[in-house]
Amino acid sequence: MPADLRFDEQVVIVTGAGRGLGRAHAIYLAERGASVIVNDLGTGMDGTGSDAALARSVVEEIEATGGRALASGASVASTDGAESIVAQALERFGRVDAVVNNAGIITYDRFPEMTVERLMQHLSIHVAGTFNVTRAAWPQMVGQGYGRIVTTTSAGLFGAAPLLAYSTCKGALVSMTRSLAEAGAGHGIKVNGLAPAAETRMVTDATLRAHVGLPPVAEDREPDPERSPATVAPMLAVLAHASCPVTGEILSAGLGRLARIFVAETQGFVERGVGPEQILERWDEIAEPGRYTVPAGTSEYVARREAQIAERLAQGSQPAG
Ligand SMILES: NC(=O)c1ccc[n+]([C@@H]2O[C@H](COP(=O)([O-])OP(=O)(O)OC[C@H]3O[C@@H](n4cnc5c(N)ncnc54)[C@H](O)[C@@H]3O)[C@@H](O)[C@H]2O)c1
Repeated sequence: MPADLRFDEQVVIVTGAGRGLGRAHAIYLAERGASVIVNDLGTGMDGTGSDAALARSVVEEIEATGGRALASGASVASTDGAESIVAQALERFGRVDAVVNNAGIITYDRFPEMTVERLMQHLSIHVAGTFNVTRAAWPQMVGQGYGRIVTTTSAGLFGAAPLLAYSTCKGALVSMTRSLAEAGAGHGIKVNGLAPAAETRMVTDATLRAHVGLPPVAEDREPDPERSPATVAPMLAVLAHASCPVTGEILSAGLGRLARIFVAETQGFVERGVGPEQILERWDEIAEPGRYTVPAGTSEYVARREAQIAERLAQGSQPAG
């Protein structure tokens, strides 16, 4: 049985921690000894409005049980906001060990009625927000030779028409996670993505459920602890901890289920001078998912591709035996 995973002396920033998953992450980490910066702008699910009291209420909850926490009502979407979150952490606790980029919004818009403004709004919070807070904490992490960054992606990365803006961001975060992981290698910084699943307002909201064809949640239904955000927190803790075994990976967690999501490429085939007719004829060979590779990054991918081409050409140039 491994030793208890503790965060004593560790300082963790959790964005969007005023409710839902972020709140559960913050409470879980504080229970395990972390000093937590509880950041939340306090917006509606669509990103409108603000309420500074939300982050403060989670800080009070943590302090009431003897934990250490600090509230931030800044927006991750602005560089100033992101820098203020990190500055607060450094001023009060003197270091930043982990950043959990969890803040997010969601709207349901049909395409093509959906506007570019809507897309940019999602990008500014999910993608630029993750970038901003990570970038603000990065020099501190490089300086101390240690850091953990968690990004928050989603099942939305697989593609969902009514969630086009949201799913675009969640896909972008996969590549951002992997690029940051490569940037952090050599500095003791590990960067991984979490694809959570839990019943929060994003999931129980009647409008969302109607858009994705799910029945509404009965108003008098008892909350099911097996579907609560607390079911995601243990995996989050692993990704935010010194003992995290991976970097550049995406892990699914929640509802009692744990799994890995990865980006892969089929083996395909190498053949020069292939025309469209042959492509259609050999489509199954291209698409065949049985044999695939999971590149760790672009460099490894390119090297492997070049090796595969060279190997095939060498075979082709050998005399038939
Ligand atoms: N609930 C799920 O099952 C699920 C599934 C996949 C991914 N996610 C992701 O998990 C994260 C948390 O989702 P949730 O379900 O807890 O949602 P939630 O709406 O309950 O919480 C999100 C929080 O982010 C805050 N926020 C929004 N914009 C902000 C900004 N600019 N700066 C700071 N805070 C901001 C909001 O005020 C809110 O409190 C999101 O990134 C979401 O996309 C959730």
